[in-house]
Amino acid sequence: MNVVTAKDELKSKIAEYKKQNKSIGFVPTMGFLHEGHLKLIEEARKGNDIVILSIFVNPLQFGPNEDFESYPRDQQRDEELANSSGVDLVFLPSVNEMYPQSPGYTISVQSRVNVLCGKSRVGHFDGVATILTKLFHLIEPNRAYFGMKDAQQVAVVEGLVEELNFPIEIVPVSTIREADGLAKSSRNVYLNKEERREAPSLYRSLVIAKEEIVKGNTNFEEIKEMIKAYITQNTSGVIDYIEILTYPQLEEIKVPKGKVILAIAVKFSKARLIDNITVEI
Ligand code: PAJ
Repeated sequence: MNVVTAKDELKSKIAEYKKQNKSIGFVPTMGFLHEGHLKLIEEARKGNDIVILSIFVNPLQFGPNEDFESYPRDQQRDEELANSSGVDLVFLPSVNEMYPQSPGYTISVQSRVNVLCGKSRVGHFDGVATILTKLFHLIEPNRAYFGMKDAQQVAVVEGLVEELNFPIEIVPVSTIREADGLAKSSRNVYLNKEERREAPSLYRSLVIAKEEIVKGNTNFEEIKEMIKAYITQNTSGVIDYIEILTYPQLEEIKVPKGKVILAIAVKFSKARLIDNITVEI
């Protein structure tokens, strides 16, 4: 496995792969790898000749009061996991390698961002779209893999790639969970013991709500109230949002038909957890 920190070295590796007509599958991450990330790598491994993993905690997508400094990092363990999962190349740039002192050009996302996490994390998806644009240009992947754990991110990236004409196929991968249903996340380490015990209630509330919709209930306000009651009764967390929207457009549901997303965000003492489920009506 190659470990590359410089853009120029990365570009010459990519040129080699392209010369050999190898297809490239790309998995962008911020590291502190867990089984969710490993699932993306596994899917990329199945569908491409070369798998490239990036590990970069992107300062541009963190708000001023968010956890950029304290975001969990473990480079050595990440490299070992990447190697044993069959990654061909890890790109591990420094902040200086990816950004000048003050970035002069950034991507501004207008679509699919005024709801869910985009609403409370203003500028977050601009940061995500900017770093991905840079990485897509450097890596020129045939396919890029994203987890449905961050469904809004998938929706925004699909929109970005379509509207800005990146010749890249975006492959969504379903959420990997702990045995008790909690979605795997690098930020789960912030939960204290009690909160960790409560956290699976997020997914349970979504499963109950999904069953309601599958049974034919299209009173989404009532379903949101059910989710709220379940989370309030079973956790000490503070609800940030509970939304039911069209997917991937992330718009209000006018006609209950097609794919919808049930998405929630709950703040615990040190962790803000998100989860979602999609349903075809
Ligand atoms: P990060 O949070 O490290 O996640 C990297 C990828 O792993 C994302 O596509 C995310 O959706 C996926 N992922 C995380 N937990 C998952 C789980 N439990 N099951 C399946 N997939 C999961 O998302 C980012 O980094 C950044 O925003 C990034 C795209 C790298 C841009 O900086």
